[in-house]
Amino acid sequence: MKILLLGQNGQLGWELQRSLAPLGELLALDRSSTSHCGDLSNLDGLVKTVHAFRPDVVVNAAAYTAVDKAESDSATAFLVNELAPEALSRVCAATGAYLVHFSSDYVFDGAGQTPWLETDATGPLNVYGHSKLAGEKGIALHGSRHVIFRTSWVYGMEGGNFAKTMLRLAQERERMTLINDQFGAPTGAALLADVTALALQAPQALTGIYHLAAAGETTWYDYAQYVLAKAKALKPSLNYAVRDFVAVPTSNFPTPAKRPLNSRLNCSRLEQALQLKLPPWQAGVDALLTKIV
Ligand SMILES: NC(=O)c1ccc[n+]([C@@H]2O[C@H](COP(=O)([O-])OP(=O)(O)OC[C@H]3O[C@@H](n4cnc5c(N)ncnc54)[C@H](OP(=O)(O)O)[C@@H]3O)[C@@H](O)[C@H]2O)c1
Repeated sequence: MKILLLGQNGQLGWELQRSLAPLGELLALDRSSTSHCGDLSNLDGLVKTVHAFRPDVVVNAAAYTAVDKAESDSATAFLVNELAPEALSRVCAATGAYLVHFSSDYVFDGAGQTPWLETDATGPLNVYGHSKLAGEKGIALHGSRHVIFRTSWVYGMEGGNFAKTMLRLAQERERMTLINDQFGAPTGAALLADVTALALQAPQALTGIYHLAAAGETTWYDYAQYVLAKAKALKPSLNYAVRDFVAVPTSNFPTPAKRPLNSRLNCSRLEQALQLKLPPWQAGVDALLTKIV
């Protein structure tokens, strides 16, 4: 199997380099690659890359993910999150390649408390969400065989992440203020990458949209508490300055982009299709903490 991976250095792209490597010949690119164009803002270049490499599968892990910045830079957000996936779908349809793409819980408006189904009505609250939804629609319109995994609250092992930030703040501050009315499941990029590799080996290729996130739910407030307690259990010598945790609503942290309150994703469709059981979110966070603490 020949696989073209775009966005190789993002949280997810990094893990996909690992999980896709055993499946065949892997060409992994980022925006500054010189052997082939991997820049999602260069649509002609992307198309040329697909024609030149002739992959069986294109996995697009690249995206414009700066949620707040997108509010004032919507042209770039839509170029990368809508027009590039659309161009990829067109060239995949022309060459027969299967397209794997990732989308977001931000396509929903965050109302209610029920985990979202793939068939639920969308209603993004911000430019990033609109651009991701437009990408989903563009892919479907342009005729490729494709699967789109919608996920939420992604963290990677490398670089910055929520757990590392909480550990640092807990050592620096006596008081931590955390949002307690957004609900979702922290999902490791490693889990996403492993499930993507499993999907590519499934006897029946997945088609359409599937929700993919770790099982269970939490809030940023409870997630932080979990991280700090677990880290202390792993390393009792850790010294926290924090004495006071304050739970606040999202409205206490005004940001340029509005965030959905309900980011719960119902992943049963994927579990049934691949005959798998998604692990609880704590399992991935435990693995992360074992590495970073
Ligand atoms: N992170 C989350 O919480 C979250 C939640 C739900 C869904 N998702 C979706 O999951 C997927 C993976 O996200 P992630 O967490 O891995 O994001 P990430 O760490 O921000 O990675 C995105 C990658 O895309 C690259 N990129 C941006 N513009 C590009 C361009 N013009 N050409 C080529 N590459 C470009 C970035 O490169 P630079 O670093 O050079 O900019 C970065 O390597 C995305 O589709 C995202 O929308 C993420």
